[in-house]
Amino acid sequence: MPKAYAYTRYGGPDTETFVHVDGPSPGPGQILAAVRAAGVNPVDGKLRRSMRGPGDTGEPEFPIVLGNEATGVGEEVGEGVTGFAAGDAVFGNTVAGGYAEYAPLPAAGSARLPQKLSFTDAAVLPVAAATAYDGIRRLGLPAGATLLVTGAGGGAGVAAVRIARAFGLRVIGTASEGKKEFVEQLGAVHVAPGAELAARVRAVAPEGVDGVYDLVGGEALQEAATLLTDRSKLLSAGAPREIERLGGARVARARTAAVLDEVARLVVHGDLDPHVGRTFPSERAGEALRAVEEGHVRGKLVIEAGA
Ligand SMILES: NC(=O)c1ccc[n+]([C@@H]2O[C@H](COP(=O)([O-])OP(=O)(O)OC[C@H]3O[C@@H](n4cnc5c(N)ncnc54)[C@H](OP(=O)(O)O)[C@@H]3O)[C@@H](O)[C@H]2O)c1
Repeated sequence: MPKAYAYTRYGGPDTETFVHVDGPSPGPGQILAAVRAAGVNPVDGKLRRSMRGPGDTGEPEFPIVLGNEATGVGEEVGEGVTGFAAGDAVFGNTVAGGYAEYAPLPAAGSARLPQKLSFTDAAVLPVAAATAYDGIRRLGLPAGATLLVTGAGGGAGVAAVRIARAFGLRVIGTASEGKKEFVEQLGAVHVAPGAELAARVRAVAPEGVDGVYDLVGGEALQEAATLLTDRSKLLSAGAPREIERLGGARVARARTAAVLDEVARLVVHGDLDPHVGRTFPSERAGEALRAVEEGHVRGKLVIEAGA
C-alpha cells in the first residue's frame, strides 16, 4: 500500500506519523498524480493544529495526510476530466494532502508542467506564489506605485516582491536583518520589522505607500495599516480576523489553472524564481515541516519523493 505522512489527531508534531493508505483512485474532476515533489507551507501545520474554515463543521476523518500542493505524473484521471491524461506532468493544489506517494489533484486547480520547469520548482507555486499573485492582482496598483510587503523574505513574500516588481511596482519589504541583502537582491527596499515600522517605512517612502500586502499579521499589520488612508489597498494572507477589524481584506484565492499557468510563465520568463531553499527526502517530511513552522525559513522548502 502507498505511504503518506499524516496526522492522527489535531495537535503538535507528535501527532504526525507515516501511514499506509488504500490504493487511491481519482474522484470526479480529479487527476491522480504519482507525486514527485510537495511544497511545505505554514498552513500545513496550522491545519494539523486544527485551524478550521468558517463553514467547516464536519467531523474530520483521521489520519489526514499533510500538504496542500504537489507536482507529479498523472496516473489516472477521474470522471469528467478533460485536458489531462495519464502520463502528463502536472502541478496543483491537492485535495487530500501532498506529502504522499500518490495525491489526487483537482483538474480545475491544476496545470501542466512547462518543459522548462522542474517538478521541485513547480511544487512551490500553487500555494505561496499563487497567493502572492492573487494578492498583487487584487490590489491592482498601477506601474510606478509603491507597495509594502511585510514578511518579504518568506515563501509568499519572496514571490510577492518578484511579482510586484514584474508588474512595475516599487516595493518596500520588511525582513529580519539577516535577510536584508536577500530582500534587496529581489528588488525591494529593505526595512527592519518590529516596533515603529511605520516610521521606518515613511523614512524610505516620504510620499507614502499605495498598498500593503501583509504576510505576518500582529504588530506588523497594525503598523502597516497606519500608512494607508484607503484601506481597500490593505490586504493580508496571514491574519484574517485582524485584517477585517482594520478595514482591509484577506486575500481571495483563485486556485485556478489560469493562475498556475501565469505564475509558471513568470518563472519560465525569469521574472519569478521559486527560491527553493532546501529539499528533503520524503522520510524527513516532519523535519521540513518543523523548519517551516519555526517561521523564519528563507524561500521555500520541498519534500522530494524518491530522493
Ligand atoms: N490564504 C492563503 O491561501 C495563504 C497562502 C500562503 C500563505 N498564507 C499565510 O501567509 C503567511 C506567510 O506565509 P509564508 O509561506 O510566506 O510563511 P514563511 O515562509 O514562514 O514566511 C513568514 C515570514 O514572516 C516573517 N515573520 C515571522 N514572524 C515575524 C514577526 N513576529 N515579525 C515580523 N516578521 C515575522 C519571517 O521573516 P524573517 O525570517 O525575516 O523574520 C518570514 O520570512 C502565513 O501566515 C501563511 O499561513 C496564506
